[in-house]
Amino acid sequence: MKRPRSIFVCQSCGSTFNKWMGRCEDCNAWNSVVEEQAQGPAIAAVTGGQSIGGKSKRGRVFELTGLQGDIENPPRISSGIGELDRVTGGGFVEGSVVLIGGDPGIGKSTLLLQASAACARMGHKSVYISGEEAVAQVRLRAQRLGLADAPVALASETAVEDIMATLSQNPKPDVAIIDSIQTLWSGEIDSAPGTVTQLRAAVHALVRFAKTTGVTLILVGHVTKDGQIAGPRVVEHMVDAVFYFEGDNHFNFRILRAVKNRFGATDELGIFEMTGSGLKDVPNPSALFLENRDTASPGTCVFAGLEGTRALLTELQALVAPTVFGSPRRAVVGWDSNRLSMIVAVLESRCKVKFGTHDIYLNVAGGLKIAEPGADLAAALALISALTQNTIAANTIILGEISLTGGVRPVQQATLRLREAQKMGFTHAIIPEGQKIEGNEVTLGITRVTHVRDAIAWLMG
Ligand code: TYD
Ligand code: MG
Repeated sequence: MKRPRSIFVCQSCGSTFNKWMGRCEDCNAWNSVVEEQAQGPAIAAVTGGQSIGGKSKRGRVFELTGLQGDIENPPRISSGIGELDRVTGGGFVEGSVVLIGGDPGIGKSTLLLQASAACARMGHKSVYISGEEAVAQVRLRAQRLGLADAPVALASETAVEDIMATLSQNPKPDVAIIDSIQTLWSGEIDSAPGTVTQLRAAVHALVRFAKTTGVTLILVGHVTKDGQIAGPRVVEHMVDAVFYFEGDNHFNFRILRAVKNRFGATDELGIFEMTGSGLKDVPNPSALFLENRDTASPGTCVFAGLEGTRALLTELQALVAPTVFGSPRRAVVGWDSNRLSMIVAVLESRCKVKFGTHDIYLNVAGGLKIAEPGADLAAALALISALTQNTIAANTIILGEISLTGGVRPVQQATLRLREAQKMGFTHAIIPEGQKIEGNEVTLGITRVTHVRDAIAWLMG
């Protein structure tokens, strides 16, 4: 009898090798290569792949067409949750496959249970299949969320073939949620559940199922320590849309971020608040992040950031205190520490401000993370304000990127940011000299600065 051939698969990137190795040659991960049985025709059966080595068929000639012609908007199913619809681009596209990733406990199951209940209440047939929780646990959560009366069909199941057989029974569901892909296994594959081969085959089979039946599938995926969806990247390539659900366990807000979307924008994000009765939409996030703002203390100022296609106001807080011993500390929360070092260096060498004997702490309030250089000027002014104890006027919004020469450079989408600030009651803005403002909707008082020095002069009155 022929002995089944073994292959060695990296559980981190999915590469296959003929021999075991301690470190994957492709992704350099240690101890990630695991022995699995090579899949011959069995994998082809699940993945629908043609058998390799068979005689090649004569190709069918298909019709070519032009760039002009009818465009059909794909039919969409609204999730009934405003922020979720914003991220999907107006609802789930029929027959598409969406993957939602996130840390354990962040609220993926809660969000999707709420979405499936909302869909069901709007008359769509929706199914929720949990591989992680028992039916009773999901029911308990539904009761707590006040969703127990929604006509959602529920099951606890992990076998892919059984799930597909159940979902293809008439009447077919409109939306099916599968929580999570890491628990799925296919009987056609010999590898242990949870291995890359199993995961890849299960997702591939589900994607084909969605495309052939028109059932919209929403898959939940776990993420690894470094924030990627566990398993090979190829899973992300197979699905139509990938969203990440993120947040900080110490704060109540959660962000759903689109990183791939074949039917919508990828820079879009939805903001939710986790409450005792589930996730709630946050239609006005700036108000959430400016809540409890301390306007009287020096060292704080407000920056208008850009998250997706909307502006988001956040408070920056700086503390500058004399160093007691040793070398001065520089600590940042929610911002890049290299960026802080750069700003401090620019302030010291171009503006003759001395931080050498001071510890510096910089914090973005509310647990948000700011990555854009447009916050440079706001951070610089917060530092100067903390050092000199001059308060920055509470009605002022600050925008601008700082270059190594100390010059202040324009930011993207300034008009959008200023309009948001205006809506939130701000009356004054410090912006770069070269910043263009479109239209005439912006009525804030504007101070333009060319160099950080000008901004410091404004702060000192
Ligand atoms: P869950 O949806 O189980 O997370 P995931 O599926 O991403 O692992 O979320 C569980 C967390 O959410 C848990 O820590 C409790 C919290 N939670 C609330 O704060 N309010 C609620 O109404 C619910 C259902 C959960
Ligand atoms: Mg869960």
